[in-house]
Amino acid sequence: MSPAGYRLAEGVSLAGRNSFRVEAQAEWLADVHDPHALPALLGEPWALSVSLLVLGEGSNVLLAGDVPGLTLCLTRARITLLEDGPETALVAADAGVGWNDFVHWTLGRGLCGLENLALIPGTVGAAPIQNIGAYGTEAGEFIASVQAFDRDTLRLRSFEHEDCRFGYRDSLFKREPEQYILTEVRFRLPKKRAVKTDYAGVGEELAAMGITGTPTHRQVAEAIGRLRSRKLPNPAVLGNAGSFFKNPIVDVAVADALKAAHPGLPVFAGDSPLSRKLSAGWLIEQDGWKGHREGDAGVAAQHALVLVNHGRATGAELLRLAGRIAGSVATRFGVALEPEPRILGGHFQPLAPSTSPA
Ligand code: FAD
Ligand code: EPU
Repeated sequence: MSPAGYRLAEGVSLAGRNSFRVEAQAEWLADVHDPHALPALLGEPWALSVSLLVLGEGSNVLLAGDVPGLTLCLTRARITLLEDGPETALVAADAGVGWNDFVHWTLGRGLCGLENLALIPGTVGAAPIQNIGAYGTEAGEFIASVQAFDRDTLRLRSFEHEDCRFGYRDSLFKREPEQYILTEVRFRLPKKRAVKTDYAGVGEELAAMGITGTPTHRQVAEAIGRLRSRKLPNPAVLGNAGSFFKNPIVDVAVADALKAAHPGLPVFAGDSPLSRKLSAGWLIEQDGWKGHREGDAGVAAQHALVLVNHGRATGAELLRLAGRIAGSVATRFGVALEPEPRILGGHFQPLAPSTSPA
């Protein structure tokens, strides 16, 4: 650890710091182990106006080129029990805590709510950014407040739950990616809560584990972990960033017309009574992309929503494949796909399906 509270290096490869495992160079990389060092580091004249990437484990970014300016990683990883009431507890976790470690820390202390979010890769600091969600739960439901360093004022600021503007794969922070550096997240977690096992496949997985009757929260976490390990490629084996596209949210009338034309299309509740969420995975699979491969850039064989790096794909090649998939789905179904990961060093755009591979 350096006395300054951070370690700064020039021209560093990020290949080992993104789950697509593509090569890209950070112009400057700062590993910050003491968030109190942020005012000094970001107040340096050279740092005031450079572009900024805050990087956790890099499991939701596509590096389509080198990253200019400053890439900053927060490494402090403390978990603190702030309040321990009869019905709920308030827990603070540093941005650098691993998300899955945190889920299991809470379950180990009899706190519930996060079990359906077990095994999502990444850090606690990134969880509020896109309000991570899985199996019928979103992290935002349990986030009481977020501590963030504001790059304009060079001070820490607290955001209450309502200020965070959580939505489906969305938050205030996602919309202002260079403004806030999240240093700590506080969770209000219940000590009793009915388990949620209604998402497709969860009940069957519990039954396959031999669990009859009401499962414990830890058993639900285990079932979700088993399901995820089967459905999604492991980034340690095959580079990927989970779902590459968000499930599109469309007006009810659009969803009804698509469902009439394609009765197999899975349609879910949207974010209002007037909207519906469509399965992007289904649209991409029907369009013939599942398992498709162009050089080392491809679509996972087990899940059409996941782009994969079979070895030496570049970020630019993956971005181009994503554009061709989106262009093809738009032509066939009239539905616009929007990427979920943050894209750096390139711009996403739907491409004509006939566009030649990169
Ligand atoms: P990074 O990828 O490093 O960063 C993601 C974004 O958050 C970037 O914009 C970055 O700048 C910003 N960011 C990160 N940390 C901070 C911080 N401290 N302050 C400010 N900004 C910050 N996501 C889901 O929601 N549900 C899933 O089920 C799911 N499954 C996945 C499965 C696999 C196999 C993979 C590879 C990914 C999956 N993801 C899923 C996506 C990913 O795990 C989450 O988005 C996760 O929160 C990213 O964490 P990270 O630390 O890797 O963030
Ligand atoms: N489907 C297909 N073909 C596929 C994949 C899915 O037809 O190749 C259809 C099936 O009908 C399936 C349905 O889509 O039943 C839903 O599939 P799944 O349960 O895998 O969910 P998803 O909508 O594809 C979302 C999240 C995941 C999250 C799961 C579980 C988004 C963009 N993705 O995927 O999150 O883990 O639900 O809740 O919302 C991520 O964000 O990176 C991620 C992995």
